[in-house]
Amino acid sequence: MPTVTIHPSGKSIEVPAGTTLAAAIVAAGEAMVLKCEGKGECESCHVFVQEGRKSLSRIQRQENERLDSIVGVGSKSRLACQALLGGENVVVELLGFASGL
Ligand code: FES
Repeated sequence: MPTVTIHPSGKSIEVPAGTTLAAAIVAAGEAMVLKCEGKGECESCHVFVQEGRKSLSRIQRQENERLDSIVGVGSKSRLACQALLGGENVVVELLGFASGL
């Protein structure tokens, strides 16, 4: 099972492959708000994936379009509710709501 490590808190959790990044982050005890309830229609779950990006599910059209509208988006950006974990460990950085930025 892949381990998800979350910065800046440093919390980590082991979850089954196929779990969304958002579910793993919430299960680890982070206060991630999912405004659209994980439908890929907002940007409240925007994270930077620092390690393990290639093992995540591919970005689909809806996520891509939503990411395009986010200020501060980068090559490491994902919507955590749309990214499914694969077999490798992942390191994510929470933005704004939890990082104090
Ligand atoms: S919770 Fe709205 S896009 Fe992820």
